[in-house]
Amino acid sequence: MTERLRIGDEGLDAALANNRQKGLPAIDVSPTQGKLLTLLARMKGAKRVLEIGTLGGYSTICLAQGLSDTGKIVTLEYEPKHATCAKENIAFAGYADQVDIIVGPALESLPILHQQQQTFDFIFIDADKPNNPHYVKWALQLASPGAVLVADNVIRDGEVLNAHSTDPRVQGIRTFVELLEQEERIEATAIQTVGEKGYDGFILGIVR
Ligand code: SAH
Ligand code: DHB
Ligand code: MG
Repeated sequence: MTERLRIGDEGLDAALANNRQKGLPAIDVSPTQGKLLTLLARMKGAKRVLEIGTLGGYSTICLAQGLSDTGKIVTLEYEPKHATCAKENIAFAGYADQVDIIVGPALESLPILHQQQQTFDFIFIDADKPNNPHYVKWALQLASPGAVLVADNVIRDGEVLNAHSTDPRVQGIRTFVELLEQEERIEATAIQTVGEKGYDGFILGIVR
C-alpha cells in the first residue's frame, strides 16, 4: 500500500533509518498514518501545530509536509536522546526553521505555552498514554476555535474495550475517551486502522 500510494520520501525514509540506527523504539506512526496526518494538516490549512510526543520526529515531518508555508510546529519530548535524533531528522528533511522541539515532561511545557498565550489550530497527542486525560484538558486550553485534534493509539488491538485491563496505557486511553464523551466542546470519531503497526487507530476531532 505504501508503495502504491507513493508514500514516503528521502526525508521520511532517512528519519526512520536514523531512528532505528540510534535504537529508538519503533513506535513511530506507520507511513499510511503519517500520510493521513499530512493530509489532515493540509485540509485544515494548519498554521500552528502542537505535537505531544516527538520520538524521532517522523510524525513531525509528516505534519510539516502538510503545514502552510509560514506555519510552525511546537513538539514536546521528554527524552533528550529522542529529541536530539528528531532534531537531526527534521533538519535533514528541510524543516528546521518551522519546528521547535521543547525537551521535558509535556505537563511542564504545556502550562508555559499557555502562559505565553500560544494557540494551535492542529494538535496531535502521541506521548505517554496515562497522561492523555491531562493532555486533552491542555489541548482545550490551547486550541483555537475549530482546531483539529488527533490522538494516536486509541484502539490497541481492541484492548481499550477491556474495562478490567491492568495496563495503565489502556486505562489512560479509556479515561481520555470518557472525557471526550463528556466534553461538549469536542466533536470526535475514531479511525480504526490495520497495517504494519497492528490494529490501532486515531481519535479525530474538532474543538468547537
Ligand atoms: N509521534 C511519534 C511517536 C511518539 S512515541 C511518531 O509518530 O513519530 C511517544 C514519545 O513520547 C516517546 O518519544 C516518549 O519519550 C515521549 N514521552 C513519553 N512521556 C512523555 C512526557 N511525559 N512528555 C513528553 N514526551 C513524552
Ligand atoms: C506505543 C506505541 C505508540 O504508537 C506510542 O505512541 C507509544 C507507545 C507502544 O506500542 O508501546
Ligand atoms: Mg503512537
